[in-house]
Amino acid sequence: MVKNKKIFIETYGCQMNFADSEIVASILLAEGFDSTKNISEADIILVNTCSIRENAEQRIRKRLQNLRSLKKKNPGLKIGLLGCMAERLKESLLEEEKSLDIIAGPDSYRDLPRLLQQVETGHQAINTILSSEETYADITPVRYDSYGVSAFISIMRGCENYCAYCVVPYVRGQERSRDVASIISETEDLFNKGYREVTLLGQNVNSYFYKDGNESANFAKLLEKVAKTHPRLRVRFATSHPNDLSDELLETMASHENICRSIHLPVQSGSTSVLAKMNRGYTREQYMDRIEAVRKIIPGCAISTDIIAGFCDETEEDHLQTLSLMEWAGFDYAYMFRYSERPDTLAATLYEDNVPDDTKERRLKEIISLQQKLSYQSNCRDLNARFEVMIEGFSKRSKDQFFGRNSQNKVVVFPKTENNPGDYIMVKIHHVTSATLIGYSD
Ligand code: SAH
Ligand code: SF4
Ligand code: F3S
Repeated sequence: MVKNKKIFIETYGCQMNFADSEIVASILLAEGFDSTKNISEADIILVNTCSIRENAEQRIRKRLQNLRSLKKKNPGLKIGLLGCMAERLKESLLEEEKSLDIIAGPDSYRDLPRLLQQVETGHQAINTILSSEETYADITPVRYDSYGVSAFISIMRGCENYCAYCVVPYVRGQERSRDVASIISETEDLFNKGYREVTLLGQNVNSYFYKDGNESANFAKLLEKVAKTHPRLRVRFATSHPNDLSDELLETMASHENICRSIHLPVQSGSTSVLAKMNRGYTREQYMDRIEAVRKIIPGCAISTDIIAGFCDETEEDHLQTLSLMEWAGFDYAYMFRYSERPDTLAATLYEDNVPDDTKERRLKEIISLQQKLSYQSNCRDLNARFEVMIEGFSKRSKDQFFGRNSQNKVVVFPKTENNPGDYIMVKIHHVTSATLIGYSD
């Protein structure tokens, strides 16, 4: 019998994968499986994987080697690979990774109970069918946030932007939006359980659109509805695409204080010709126009970004344009990557991965060190400021310190008070590093 077997799930990749693991746990618990936080007592280990860069996959391959040794000790142990890497490599993984019993792509999680039954009979099991409809709307995720104050809500799945470098459209399938009613009821339920922050998730949330009869909602409308569920619920969202970041959305943010003053707006490159090759759909100037709109409509809004160094044919001049755009925008935070060619993407088919490794490395280093300076400058501007912080838990370094975030999504550390995680507290900043604001509650 598979019932009562203990499942251990480990997750790699983006926030959407973390949200998916909570859905997987929910599906399996409803079927009578148990979950465990202790891998050594697991009967089934599920690894939720990412394919975004080659090193993401290499890391998972190494992990599978380690898991194989667990199987030697416990021959009954079953190992499943979920998510984007499962979707990308399909059957070939069962050949290459002998320790694997199950392969399940991101749209096949409802089928996991059947797949698990099948492996009990000694067969490998696989489902990598992508769906144009699955949103898991009716499934209430099991929440992994240890303090029970902050949760992800998946509002859409898939992506059809086909940025030339990106594997996501191939592994996550068609873009589809989840119905408004189930998002709102999940939000209300979370608030009633004590959660004080939700992050609405999608690869490109600005293109959210749901229509039901005569009623329809774009992302601005959805965001407003979520924000109105309770003024003490903080609302965040990720990721925004510069093409679809409308003034309407910015005005909605400005008129609701509980929608956080922080936008993640990946630029990828500061050069119009690289952006065109990347198939991003905007120019340097159009991106700058969106930053100006954010600054005008929501003063004090933090802006973070993603940058890729060394995309195909990127010249030194293109790279300098990325640095100058970063300086101009004064990003508060950035995720920075060296370009990694992904098989079968537009870039892999059309262009040569021709920037030498050492040049990619040097450009990435220059980007990272500039961003460190910009993040530090951004934090220095907050010296002596007072922020409302939502307490998220104890600081990693010390049980005498709380940590939380301000509306701008900056981490704030301060001495512990009588409060609890989920409470709001005013903190005055007296010290900063490039990563953290340090203060006292007042
Ligand atoms: N949907 C989001 C981001 C998804 S992936 C968006 O459109 O911005 C997160 C980030 O990984 C991307 O923004 C990009 O900067 C980076 N990335 C994606 N594919 C990559 C690749 N092949 N090589 C290096 N970085 C990549
Ligand atoms: Fe990838 Fe572009 Fe879609 Fe983002 S918008 S997931 S970068 S294809
Ligand atoms: Fe990775 Fe898949 Fe997310 S490729 S970044 S886990 S959508």
